Amino acid sequence: MAKVCEDNLCEEMSEIEKFALLDEVINDYDKKESNLIQILHITQAIFGFLPATVQSFIAEKMDLPISKIGGVVTFYTYFTTEPKGKYIISVCLGTACYVRGGKNIMVKLKELLGIDVGETTEDMKFTLQVVRCMGACSLAPAIRINEKVYKSVNPNKLQQILKQYK
Ligand code: FES
Repeated sequence: MAKVCEDNLCEEMSEIEKFALLDEVINDYDKKESNLIQILHITQAIFGFLPATVQSFIAEKMDLPISKIGGVVTFYTYFTTEPKGKYIISVCLGTACYVRGGKNIMVKLKELLGIDVGETTEDMKFTLQVVRCMGACSLAPAIRINEKVYKSVNPNKLQQILKQYK
């Protein structure tokens, strides 16, 4: 079975190496349509996102129509066709966070980063997105940066939090 991106190895790989690895992955999964979602998960881990060129490659290798790949990619919100930043900032706008100031957190983050929801900063460092509850309602409002959750966030603390990722 192909080894995929241990220790962030994929970030160091050239495009040619990434496609060679993807080829190996598709073969490991016997080119079966029933394995398509799993293959797409691994593909996104390799490339960071699923651009049209990568989708075409998978379609050709698996002998599937490109529309089949595109349909799966657009159906699952986990998949993205745009490159994302190194740090994904998820702002919770679930009920508890919303009523306790989640909206102000979002406004401040947009201002600090100069981007809108779904966008990525030019230096490819931060992507801003919305989530609906991350299980920290008692300490709302909450945000998450990659895997780390910040609770009881105050808009005035945001700059300091972001500094840790600069
Ligand atoms: S609503 Fe935000 S953590 Fe639950």
